[in-house]
Amino acid sequence: MRATRGSRGGRGLLKRITSVEEMRGEAATLRKAGQVVGLVPTMGYLHEGHLSLIRLARELSDSVVVSVFVNPTQFGPSEDYERYPRDLARDADLAEEAGCDVLFVPGASEMYPDGHATVVHVKGLTDKLCGAFRPGHFDGVCTVVAKLLNIVRPDLAVFGQKDGQQAAVIRRMAADLDMDVSIEIGETVREADGLAMSSRNSYLSPAERADALAISGALTEAKVRYEAGETDPAAVLDGVRSAIEERPSATVQYAAAVDRFTLEDVGVLGPGTMIAVAVRVGGTRLIDNIVL
Ligand code: PAF
Repeated sequence: MRATRGSRGGRGLLKRITSVEEMRGEAATLRKAGQVVGLVPTMGYLHEGHLSLIRLARELSDSVVVSVFVNPTQFGPSEDYERYPRDLARDADLAEEAGCDVLFVPGASEMYPDGHATVVHVKGLTDKLCGAFRPGHFDGVCTVVAKLLNIVRPDLAVFGQKDGQQAAVIRRMAADLDMDVSIEIGETVREADGLAMSSRNSYLSPAERADALAISGALTEAKVRYEAGETDPAAVLDGVRSAIEERPSATVQYAAAVDRFTLEDVGVLGPGTMIAVAVRVGGTRLIDNIVL
């Protein structure tokens, strides 16, 4: 097994694995030793949001595997695959400090060798919200997550509520394909001023960063209105849209009030309703949501 040591204050025990076969072998050894294995799939450029998921996996498992793979199949042709931020050395140190034991860093040809022809498609849930604006995105996500789950065969896998639609889609996929894994969802982590953490925040100029704050502000205000007795989705969503679009660089792609599990539009706001938005801030597309 190839093992590399962290350089910036990690525990120095992190195993870094690049091949599917080695990853399978390592996971099999852990399972044989009776370890509960947790997997945190990521695309790297780790921030506090990811680290909170790794810490959650650490609490729930004996051994934590974190995958770092910028998955080409979930990016559209005009999206940011090439410029998506990457910093593997830093990721390794941060992941290790947060409690990761094994970092799985496959290359694109390891995950998608010549002849790869299978796509995992979850019907319905993937047509709306982000799926309506990013055709094929969730096929890429489901395919890579299914592959990672098959390679590692973890007892549990942790995803973030920040990607609320992704969480619902992956839960559905795991249930429909009888995957023997528990899907755990960690809370959204925000900057001190409320902006949801995202690797894509690094694209924002200072002015755009200031405008992006309207997103979490509008969602918080929606929750305040709901808690004060407003249950009409249209009224609350109008407020969300206009609060965000007051900012010069922000354009709302969608604002929706849906059930957090089925993603069906709700007629009345209630517990479990997810108010979800996608917003273009300058050239950067940001998503966020709040669950009532
Ligand atoms: O949420 C992400 O970062 C990605 O969609 C995931 C789940 C790692 C699949 O590439």
